[in-house]
Amino acid sequence: MPIRLAILSNAGGSGKTTIAAHLAYLIGSSGYSVALIDLDPQGSVSLFSGLPRPQNHRSLATVLQDDFVGDWPTVDLWQDHLENVVAIQGEMGLVKSINELVLHERGAYLLADRLTDFPLPHDLIIFDCPATLGPLPLIALSASTHLLIPIQVEPKSADGAGKLLEWFYHSFRRLRLKPEPRILGILPNQYDRRLAIHRNILEQLTPQLEQLNIHGFPPIRFSSEFKNASALGLPLHLYRPRHPACQEFNPIVASLRQALTEASK
Ligand SMILES: Nc1ncnc2c1ncn2[C@@H]1O[C@H](COP(=O)(O)OP(=O)(O)OP(=O)(O)O)[C@@H](O)[C@H]1O
Ligand SMILES: [Mg+2]
Repeated sequence: MPIRLAILSNAGGSGKTTIAAHLAYLIGSSGYSVALIDLDPQGSVSLFSGLPRPQNHRSLATVLQDDFVGDWPTVDLWQDHLENVVAIQGEMGLVKSINELVLHERGAYLLADRLTDFPLPHDLIIFDCPATLGPLPLIALSASTHLLIPIQVEPKSADGAGKLLEWFYHSFRRLRLKPEPRILGILPNQYDRRLAIHRNILEQLTPQLEQLNIHGFPPIRFSSEFKNASALGLPLHLYRPRHPACQEFNPIVASLRQALTEASK
């Protein structure tokens, strides 16, 4: 079974789409095949990876419809550089899907069902989730094997992460997920080590996470080059390969590669 990684957080703008797109690129460039699925009606994955809007409504919304028969609407990503990374785009049609999910007998399990009935061939499937903890993140949760939580380094981050973890554990029980998805860890993003407040928050966060038995990844620094790169639809690694923030993805890539190796045994 492939690794299915949901990138989730209950805070807007914490870097979910940025991290999702970068991990798709990095795992893809180390030889694995990757499908990046956008569950956000805003369709940010398309924006951040240089794709035009979905053509003929070929998006995740079509996958969630009852007449879906396995024709996954994949589009190639960064095809000048990689051969094995695709996206399944999000769009406003997903808003209608939310209403239908609520009424559907298998609503919370619909994405998991699609992946069971019509498996994607990719080694890694990444779900980029919207910030609200509604039906869309729930279908990602029930379809995932692993979770990653990006957070901004702010005074309310630890509290927010605690509430998100509570929501996870509650949802795992309610959805009767067996096995439960593994929480890879919390990834602090947009970290500025010149700011005392950021250093303090990070220092306090580490023991709090240890108490909860949750791994804290080393932070990804704040750099406006992320915005510049995403404006061109590129990961930082293609836009500024020597930028020091590029190396900061290594621990999370290593953790994912280990999960991929374990999954292939
Ligand atoms: N490390 C970083 N340094 C500077 N800017 C960043 C960094 N990571 C992300 N950004 C920028 O912050 C903004 C929010 O990032 P992103 O869209 O990835 O967050 P998100 O969690 O997906 O947001 P949403 O909740 O709206 O889906 C974007 O403009 C992005 O370019
Ligand atoms: Mg996003």
